[in-house]
Amino acid sequence: MSSRSKRSGRSSENDSIPFEGEHSLGALAIVDLFSQSFQRILDSPDLPEFIQVVKGSLYERQFLEAFDDDNKRFAYAARWTPARSLAYASLFSSLEPVKGLFEDPDSTTSVLCVGGGAGGELVGLASVFCRLKEHNSTSTSNLVVKIVDIADWSAIVTNVTKYMQQNWLYKPEKLTTQFIHKDILGNGFSAYGDLDLITLMFTTNELFSEKRAETIRFLQTLNRSCKQGAHLLIAESAGSYSHITVGTKKFPVQFIIDTVLLGKQGEDTGAWDLVDQSDSCWYRIDEKEVDYPMKLENMRFFYRLYEKK
Ligand SMILES: C[S@@+](CC[C@H](N)C(=O)[O-])C[C@H]1O[C@@H](n2cnc3c(N)ncnc32)[C@H](O)[C@@H]1O
Repeated sequence: MSSRSKRSGRSSENDSIPFEGEHSLGALAIVDLFSQSFQRILDSPDLPEFIQVVKGSLYERQFLEAFDDDNKRFAYAARWTPARSLAYASLFSSLEPVKGLFEDPDSTTSVLCVGGGAGGELVGLASVFCRLKEHNSTSTSNLVVKIVDIADWSAIVTNVTKYMQQNWLYKPEKLTTQFIHKDILGNGFSAYGDLDLITLMFTTNELFSEKRAETIRFLQTLNRSCKQGAHLLIAESAGSYSHITVGTKKFPVQFIIDTVLLGKQGEDTGAWDLVDQSDSCWYRIDEKEVDYPMKLENMRFFYRLYEKK
């Protein structure tokens, strides 16, 4: 399907991805990671209070306030990251170009997760990499995940990375992570040319609500700086995109993103091709299969996968 026809969306109300990805570690391994490495948080009597504080800030769309201290960040990661990780493991495993990044037993795959400090993308990526690595445990392939986030999630990224290195890999050094505590809109990162994949999972709405012009400039930087064949994955809650007024007209954020990345509709002049998408994709938890002390929620999300021309 051409990028142009894909831009208009496929019949997508019934898209779904499986509970467990065919090419990722199983759900039990993912949930165990959180039960074990967050045990102290999960046992804390203060956890419900911090969850409420985070929920309140997110509801008020006070995104920066929601993640401005370690108690809130650990509460968010213990409460919401496990389900996100399960969904992302399944999504990455289902997207051929993403799974394909890890198939060569000799290459290093370099990924940037913008706004990925809570660890869901990291766990999802590592669960696909480590599953494929099981068949080639001594091969030279590596996964390097860089995470840029405006909130300081370093303790969580360190926790989760250590667990995966020690429990999911034969050689721990095959997975490396780098947490960069910066505003992506304030030149927080520059080495875009090295990246095989950039993820913006549930982050573009926040970026647009913080600084619209800078967010557009950031996307334009990706247009200029990413290498040919690199992929860019954007996801948000289905139907959640806000509208932006330009001149006298209102446009959905998605329209602005597509115009910057793909060019004007009908012209195909942009720096990227749209290679996969869904306007509404379900990820449903199979509650019989996993046991976690907090609710693991289903997700319905929109995603778009772009490839650099
Ligand atoms: C709703 S959370 C999504 C977390 C994670 N990506 C997921 O899917 O579970 C949005 C994340 O974007 C980060 N963020 C917001 N504005 C940012 C900016 N300007 N630069 C870098 N990170 C930002 C927030 O700190 C937060 O970690």
